[in-house]
Amino acid sequence: MSELIEKLASAHDLSDEELLEFLMQPQPEQELFAAADAVRRENYGDAVYLRGLIEFTNYCKNDCYYCGIRRSNTHAERYRLSPEQILDCCAEGYAMGYRTFVLQGGEDPYFTDERVCEIVSAIRAGYPDCRITLSIGEKTRESYQAYFEAGANRYLLRHETADPAHYRMLHPESLSLENRKRCLYDLRDIGYQVGSGFMIGSPYQKPEHILADVRFLQDLKPAMIGVGPFITHSETPFADFPSGELHFGLKIVAMLRLLFPKVLLPATTAFGTLHPQGRELALKAGGNVMMPNLSPRKVRPLYDLYENKVCVDEEAAQCRGCMEARVKSVGYRVEVSVGDSLVR
Ligand code: 5AD
Ligand code: FES
Repeated sequence: MSELIEKLASAHDLSDEELLEFLMQPQPEQELFAAADAVRRENYGDAVYLRGLIEFTNYCKNDCYYCGIRRSNTHAERYRLSPEQILDCCAEGYAMGYRTFVLQGGEDPYFTDERVCEIVSAIRAGYPDCRITLSIGEKTRESYQAYFEAGANRYLLRHETADPAHYRMLHPESLSLENRKRCLYDLRDIGYQVGSGFMIGSPYQKPEHILADVRFLQDLKPAMIGVGPFITHSETPFADFPSGELHFGLKIVAMLRLLFPKVLLPATTAFGTLHPQGRELALKAGGNVMMPNLSPRKVRPLYDLYENKVCVDEEAAQCRGCMEARVKSVGYRVEVSVGDSLVR
């Protein structure tokens, strides 16, 4: 085995110099994926956890340069789901076996803490055996505390890049890496299972930035790490930047599995968008979570963070079957238990 992969697989870490070399030099892909798969099987066996994703608002007050639902995209058609619609999605998801509901949305001021807590409490009351994951952006510690007390268990908030100068190139002045990190540490302290992560191949990204991402994640110790290739959206300031490369993205997934053996690692939709079998390849590179869409079909195309997103035309039930077939096709097994992370 190549020396760097060997060390990654046994020590689950590399020095800064080694990590940069790993990122910059081509690596034997099959060897790398086999090592990642072995570590994943050691910890999670052949299980792939499914999470029902409900994209409940595409209004957003932020203006991130990469994102299709940014405030300044006046071409985006905006929608919000009512609490009843959200609960209908949960009912449908529960019937299909999902035991985690992920409520994801833009930073939409309409959804005040009171409204978020009402929705979370209603789901908590209706589905006491399920996990509730929120992914609604940067909030105060008090807000996070209130959602937690209402019954939320997990929170997804990607840091996007751990390098302050790179962060500045991806976001307007109103956002800061400092506040993003503050949010993540608050969430962890409150007791959430936290997911963070970053885009791969985002504009101006350098290997040094990925090194900083790794060091930040080693400090945060998240339960879950979400990564996916950057994908161009034509109605953003980054319209002229190319999408990230599939094989570099897969290399990062495998690297993360080796660095963080016990983390939950989704095979994200962005991989599926870059390549018809992108998510399956991400599973083979160490991924062990998939997030099928439960949002009503009518609004799905509107949650358009990036172009040509997959699973937009399928009904939730079709997506469920499709996911199962995809997971089986690469030798894994769908698992619908709550699937808590082994981290901690
Ligand atoms: N390409 C890939 N991922 C994107 N995200 C937002 N815009 C894009 C894009 N153009 C990711 C961000 C965000 C998550 C919800 O989606 O990392 O945290
Ligand atoms: Fe959603 Fe195939 S995984 S339709």
